[in-house]
Amino acid sequence: MAVKRIAVLTGGGDCPGLNPTIKGVVTRAADLGIEVLGLQNGWKSLVSDEPIYKPLSVDDVRPIIKLGGTILHTSRTNAYDKKRPEYLPNLVKNVEKLGLDAIVAIGGDDTLSVASRLTKGDGVERPVPCVGVPKTMDNDVFGTDQCFGFDTATTLAVEAVQRLRDTADSHNRVIVLEVFGRKAGWTALYTAVAADADYVLIPERNPADLEGLFAKLREVKKRRDYALVVVAEGADHPDLDEWANEIAQGLNGTRLGEMSVEIDSFGHPILKERRVGDWCAYRIKQELGWDTRTSVMAHLMRGGQPTLEDRILGARLGIAAADYAHQEKFGVMAALKGSEVVPFPLEELTDANGKSITRDVPPEWIEFADILMK
Ligand code: F6P
Repeated sequence: MAVKRIAVLTGGGDCPGLNPTIKGVVTRAADLGIEVLGLQNGWKSLVSDEPIYKPLSVDDVRPIIKLGGTILHTSRTNAYDKKRPEYLPNLVKNVEKLGLDAIVAIGGDDTLSVASRLTKGDGVERPVPCVGVPKTMDNDVFGTDQCFGFDTATTLAVEAVQRLRDTADSHNRVIVLEVFGRKAGWTALYTAVAADADYVLIPERNPADLEGLFAKLREVKKRRDYALVVVAEGADHPDLDEWANEIAQGLNGTRLGEMSVEIDSFGHPILKERRVGDWCAYRIKQELGWDTRTSVMAHLMRGGQPTLEDRILGARLGIAAADYAHQEKFGVMAALKGSEVVPFPLEELTDANGKSITRDVPPEWIEFADILMK
């Protein structure tokens, strides 16, 4: 069976580099005589009664390499959501209705886990052949050396620290910058090193070493009257819950409740709501008496034009994904290994229990940061 018509979708949190990838898929598919439909809002399009899509031509994608976000829109819809038994039958029906030979799914571990299961035929009448492209500003997808979105997001955070330095210096303060990154510390570590921050807290070093942080800030104080700390949203400490509940009580429980945070359809908590940056600032003030403020990058890291690196990486992976679809090489994602783009099996992104394996910051990268952040 020759592949004649494919669909492309973007799922999970958006990040700069998605549009370059879509451009890569569509322009390469045109060379290969493959028609491309753009599905709107990730898997949500296919699991709905009526799929929302638009045909994508080379003309449609010609100007999009420089655009942030995703022209296809996105959602965190889980096609395998147990609470939505209609999702999978709808998906199979829609794939047939649209005459799709394959789907290119651009997303993080959640979106790719759906692509993997569909390709294997898990829970569906007929397997749905998929090819994946890994993306995430968190840079934590297993099996690839780098994800697009990360470079742009981290570049923005570095710029933010540079701005915070001016105001921290003027006011003789400590400023804590909390960054997105989910359960991985890549964004925080790169930001802290590249912006010459004084300390970084990352989930790979949980529980957070508060004594280490205080000792470093005492030492900084002898040299200058301001300091900069970068905290990954996934950093944690046993004190954090207690602190959050104290605040909640002070506010009559209106702000954080019982530290309950919203859970998305893939079961991930929205970490930003834990306010680890505020907690860290509070502990610094309490321990050192140093005036401290918090800034939170959050979605400011996700918008804006992709950097050069993210444009090129996204476009390369998109081209490779179209090639894999054409070659009927399904159940793989286009991964970066060194400087090469290679196919990587999607089933290796999850463990035997179906849980995502993430690419955490390894000890050698932590050592790298330690060397530079003396
Ligand atoms: O996974 C990407 C990411 O930006 C994380 O860093 C962050 O925790 C999460 O998405 C935020 O998700 P949302 O945009 O749904 O609030």
